[in-house]
Amino acid sequence: MNILLTAGPTHEPIDAVRYIGNRSSGRMGIAIAQAAIDRGHSVTLILGPVAIAVPKEAKRIDVITAAEMDSAVMASFPEHDLLIMAAAVADFRPASSTAVKIPRSGGFTLELVPNRDILAAAGDIKQPHQRTIGFSLETRGHLHRTREKLATKKCDLIVYNPTATLDAEDVDPALLYADGREEFPGLLSKLQFGQLLIQKAEALF
Ligand code: CTP
Repeated sequence: MNILLTAGPTHEPIDAVRYIGNRSSGRMGIAIAQAAIDRGHSVTLILGPVAIAVPKEAKRIDVITAAEMDSAVMASFPEHDLLIMAAAVADFRPASSTAVKIPRSGGFTLELVPNRDILAAAGDIKQPHQRTIGFSLETRGHLHRTREKLATKKCDLIVYNPTATLDAEDVDPALLYADGREEFPGLLSKLQFGQLLIQKAEALF
């Protein structure tokens, strides 16, 4: 397969030095990339700002903001069989940002506007030969929200990922499929999880 994989956080600039970000380390994405490469797949990795080593076999595209990730995914998806959106995309960005540093004097109110849902946009343009896999970061127990995201984002498979695993070593996932199947593999290292996900991804075709 030609796999398009996103990983890491996005940073949404506020001013010359400040941004809105999140705790995503990118390690889950790197584990998936490595597992895919080990199985002989070709991987394009669209990576947000992380300090992490990337397998040299992957084609790497660096991005900072959600808008940059959106453009990179839209440009690359048609050439790929599978999109895996493991990135922790910022849901909001500042309505405006400035190239100067905002001084501390006085108060400061930040207006946020929503970023487009990249996975849903890919679901809308997906061709019959293509598949999409999403992640769903939830407070533990909120599996019903993951079921909703599976449908609204038109995924073939979505991985429920309790928020506790965001920057942890292990994952405790649930795999929910468009055909209604639900799998609970138990606690896995990120490497084991990557291997499992690639097996499941192969079976989607
Ligand atoms: N995602 C995306 N574009 C966004 C936000 C999220 O493509 N602007 C993707 C993520 O990469 C992930 C999936 O959508 O694969 C679910 O992300 P999540 O943060 O769990 O859900 P949201 O849709 O952002 O919903 P909420 O924050 O309300 O839980």
